[in-house]
Amino acid sequence: MGGLTHLIVFVSMFVSITLISEAQYRLPIMIYEPSKQYYTSISLRSPNMYSVTFLLDLGTNLTWLDCRELESLSSLRFITCQSSTCKSIPGSGCDRKSCLYLQPNPLGKRVTGRVVQGAATFSTKDGGRQLVSLPRFTFSCANQLLPLPVSGVLSLSPAGEFSFWRQVTTAFNVAPKFALCLPSSIFGIGHFYVGGVNSYNIPPFNASNPLPMTLTPLKNIDSGKYIISPTSIYVAGIPLSLKPSLLDGGAKISTVVPYTLLQTDIYNALASAFTRKATKMGMSKVPGTAPFKTCFDEGGSGRNIEEFMNVPVIEIGLPGRAGEVKWRFHGANTVVRVSETVICLAFVDGGKKPIEPMVIGTHQFQDYMIEFDLSTSRMAISDSLLSHKTSCFNTI
Ligand SMILES: *[C@@H]1O[C@H](CO)[C@@H](O)[C@H](O)[C@H]1NC(C)=O
Ligand SMILES: *[C@@H]1O[C@H](CO)[C@@H](O)[C@H](O)[C@H]1NC(C)=O
Repeated sequence: MGGLTHLIVFVSMFVSITLISEAQYRLPIMIYEPSKQYYTSISLRSPNMYSVTFLLDLGTNLTWLDCRELESLSSLRFITCQSSTCKSIPGSGCDRKSCLYLQPNPLGKRVTGRVVQGAATFSTKDGGRQLVSLPRFTFSCANQLLPLPVSGVLSLSPAGEFSFWRQVTTAFNVAPKFALCLPSSIFGIGHFYVGGVNSYNIPPFNASNPLPMTLTPLKNIDSGKYIISPTSIYVAGIPLSLKPSLLDGGAKISTVVPYTLLQTDIYNALASAFTRKATKMGMSKVPGTAPFKTCFDEGGSGRNIEEFMNVPVIEIGLPGRAGEVKWRFHGANTVVRVSETVICLAFVDGGKKPIEPMVIGTHQFQDYMIEFDLSTSRMAISDSLLSHKTSCFNTI
């Protein structure tokens, strides 16, 4: 008896280990510069395959789109509110028989949609010809126009069973994780990886020469947010003196906020330390340009072309496996050019009492690889790819 039980345990362990595939799916990420929105495209059957552009949103629990975009709804299956699918969507409701879902709209008011299932197809290599298909992709149809170029919002939330990455990793039995490498301009595409091993082919990095990544825990993922826990902030290696409780609420990662929002006291401490250091480096303070309050004339030298390496380094201290680790930001991610000679600190005052004291926006992690591993509830952050003379554009 005991032997048989052992055998069964052994066999089932073996099966569960070998079933997890190491496949990695790679979707393209484009930036729309006027609004600094990041989007990808996925095709839906309606009844022909129709490509839909989706805003990437880490804070949305169920993918939705304006289904009036589609040719016809005939190939979609409307989910009833008695179904187990409807019941497993947190916060779902009913309209006679159909399953409804009230969504946050990162670009406006909340919207109600009808939950449906239909076939979705996406490329596995940045828009190449290799396609995979999810025959029963669950999403929601809301009659809500979104500003171009997007017509829907792709759910990347950590909560529930229906975020896009969760539906993909469940359907294909791959590790529950995904990574983003946001492009910094329209002149190339970035990458959205789903599943896979810890290996990203961005030359000079590959499986045998892996991109170095720093790990930090994600806290309270059931909240539907990706929150890390900064312990300190440094400018040119010197920690800001902040009341420790200021950082208590953590830092939310956002793909829809363009510039990191900081609670007012944190913003002021960062801005004054940065200004002190920048003026020592020869820049002079000039009036702000909304939404930025802290701007500088670089002087006649024009040193800071392209990657702005010549500005004070900002670091966020985070809990790591053995003490503090640092997320380091160089000029390309800390300042923004607003005119030929003026650059501004690319952080924004988020007010006295925001929900989270820090919301890390996209300007700060363009040209980084950031990975969300939901099997370990950890986030992995690479160095700036620019500091390795590469970028998110550079892929094989
Ligand atoms: C990995 O990258 C290194 C350095 O760029 C290169 O020398 C090596 O040939 C690459 N290996 C593979 C398997 O592509
Ligand atoms: C997403 O789902 C989580 C878990 O059910 C919930 O707490 C959160 O409020 C939802 N988020 C939004 C924006 O609806």
